[in-house]
Amino acid sequence: MSAELILNNAQIVLENDVITGSVLIRDGKIADISAGTVSGGEDFEGDYLIPGLVELHTDHLEGHYAPRPRVRWNPIAAVLAHDAQIASSGITTVLDALRIGLDRDADMSAEEIRKLADAIEDSVQQDRLRADHYFHLRCEVSEADCLNGFHFFDNDSRVRLASLMDHAPGQRQFVDLETYAYYYQRKLKLSDLEFNVYCEKRMGESARNSAPNRKVISDICRERGIVLASHDDATSAHVDEAVEQGIHVAEFPTTLEAAAASKHAGLAVLMGAPNVVRGGSHSGNVSARELIEHGHLDILSSDYIPFSLIQSTFFLGESDGISLPDAVRLVTKNPAEAVGFDDRGVIEVGKRADLVRVRVDEHIPVVRTVWREGRRVV
Ligand SMILES: [Fe+2]
Repeated sequence: MSAELILNNAQIVLENDVITGSVLIRDGKIADISAGTVSGGEDFEGDYLIPGLVELHTDHLEGHYAPRPRVRWNPIAAVLAHDAQIASSGITTVLDALRIGLDRDADMSAEEIRKLADAIEDSVQQDRLRADHYFHLRCEVSEADCLNGFHFFDNDSRVRLASLMDHAPGQRQFVDLETYAYYYQRKLKLSDLEFNVYCEKRMGESARNSAPNRKVISDICRERGIVLASHDDATSAHVDEAVEQGIHVAEFPTTLEAAAASKHAGLAVLMGAPNVVRGGSHSGNVSARELIEHGHLDILSSDYIPFSLIQSTFFLGESDGISLPDAVRLVTKNPAEAVGFDDRGVIEVGKRADLVRVRVDEHIPVVRTVWREGRRVV
């Protein structure tokens, strides 16, 4: 006996169109899509039906595991709390970002990061989770211990994406030292003198470690079939370097120049959904809206606010010049394709029935129900 479910009277967001109709789910996959209403099934009362969101870069798990300095929560409990918020934000596939190469603001060891990853792996095996979880290794290549952390994931097939980042002062996101001081001096509570010493140290580490770490990690990733992302590219030269290293995704380019060059080179350009909702970047870089207007944006990511992904989708879908299917592709089909998932990200016969029922209320999308492979998870 095959398990069937009918979702009826929905506004179905297809790849390029919105139709009112019904979707038949059989054995976890989309078996049929038809315009007009059929009898029976779950009545959507005109709510939207969109593909489950695909999230490539969320920092959200760490905060559940280390909610305060030196406080550590049970890793499985942390994973469950994170997963619940991810799924109830309409995300059915998530790449949990794990730090590799820890800088001073991290307060976490490579062993602890591995422990968190093990808690996810164990929770997948025990069928505890609502969303489908994979890993994104955020590699801080300026740090001396970066490769050590990376090797904790040598035999881990859950790694789908690795990003190469350098957050030392004077680099990329922090070309402007004033912005760096605003971000780190306050966060680390350093005096001006201590801050100068700290900057010198970080710049020295970047000069020593970044190039060799980039090379080793990108070589291993290409060999293992892990998709590579560059991070905070600021210039055309950064993009040239990325292309040379086989990078496929440009994460958070900080300037219009870098985004345009990335797009031109065939990279998928990813920006933060909070940037869309807030109308600009929290560190003063190029705005995602501007990139959309230039046709340079492919993917949105929730970054530090899980709900921002679906919020930005409906926010963009209500704005001039961007249709709802255009906005939905930024959070479904495009990110899925970027990391090699061809079985999801679009409402099409034969694809996974990863689906979200949404009602828009006061311009905020209310996530009412979520299915992963046809099974209700929210
Ligand atoms: Fe960054």
